[in-house]
Amino acid sequence: MFKKVIAIMTASVLAASMLVGCGGSTGASSSAPAEQKTEEAAPAEAAEPAAEAAAAADGDLASKKVGVCIYQFNDNFMTLYRQELERYLIEQGFAKENITIVDGANDQATQSGQIDSFIADKVDVLIINLVNSSSAATVTDKVVAAGIPLVYINREPDKAEQQRWEDNNWNICYVGCDARKSGTFQGEIIADLGLDAVDFNKNGKIDYIMIEGDPENVDAAYRTEFSVKALTDAGFEVNCLDDQVGMWDQAKGGELVANSLTQYGNDIEVVFCNNDAMALGALQSIKNAGRTVGKDIYLVGVDALTEVVGYVISGEITGTVFNNHFAQADGAADAAIRYLKGEGNEHNIQCDYTKVTQANAQEILDSLQ
Ligand code: GAL
Repeated sequence: MFKKVIAIMTASVLAASMLVGCGGSTGASSSAPAEQKTEEAAPAEAAEPAAEAAAAADGDLASKKVGVCIYQFNDNFMTLYRQELERYLIEQGFAKENITIVDGANDQATQSGQIDSFIADKVDVLIINLVNSSSAATVTDKVVAAGIPLVYINREPDKAEQQRWEDNNWNICYVGCDARKSGTFQGEIIADLGLDAVDFNKNGKIDYIMIEGDPENVDAAYRTEFSVKALTDAGFEVNCLDDQVGMWDQAKGGELVANSLTQYGNDIEVVFCNNDAMALGALQSIKNAGRTVGKDIYLVGVDALTEVVGYVISGEITGTVFNNHFAQADGAADAAIRYLKGEGNEHNIQCDYTKVTQANAQEILDSLQ
């Protein structure tokens, strides 16, 4: 289902992504990816992780304890993710009562306390969706010191942190998708419509607004950068009217789009949302403003939430990108199992995104059921 590749997040890509955003808007600073911790943290004393993992391989998965930290339960995509993760872990043989999934409530201090409790409880493996990706080194050090294998998900620790896992041969990996691709797909969905169809105000440019996710997930910066890059790579001139941070949240996204529509009115031709929850909020605001997607404005998201795929079929949302929570959750569980069996993992395991337009939306919807 998913293919593995070693993903190297180059410094140049990170640096380039910091330049994205409308000059002068609040988005100029908000477009920068999360402050990535680059200094070397002191390597923790590993409690012989290989030996621990081998010991854990004795007995079957039903007796193994899994601790799962989610950055916050109040997130549409991560809800689908954690439901699939639990389902798949049980299918693989873990006992439901041995799988503990906790809500970090979008607070790193809360999540750090939860990780401490899992360590005290001697879980056999940890799966962590960090609240702050910059906390990775601290979290890694205490988990390594406890001799527990760890699979990071959704919020990718930076390159320097991943290098430490490699250099120290720690049982730590990241499972996720390359968000640059999701941004590129968003841009391509608009580019494929052609300038004539998109350029309603006939200024020769694609006038857009960008609604970004929480910068703690580098997905936000990459989607912002690469959606626009796909347009310029296809030869279009672009004009960023507004760039705001909606924190992946439907209500917040809707509010920001409503404000932009009031300010820029009919000049807005495309609304890029870094995720579908915010696209749902945007759709409501677009309707409230008397605009019609496909007729006088375009709207794209990422995730392929069932509701959004339904709107792609009906033409109320132009397109989205399937952020495959099945492949990511199953991939994370498989990585955890390999650690428990003492097999080890590559340190960066990647999954694929799929572009969703009216042409394949029904097929995607069927695969989500
Ligand atoms: C993204 C996803 C968003 C949100 C975010 C949380 O990959 O597209 O909807 O869930 O992760 O970090």
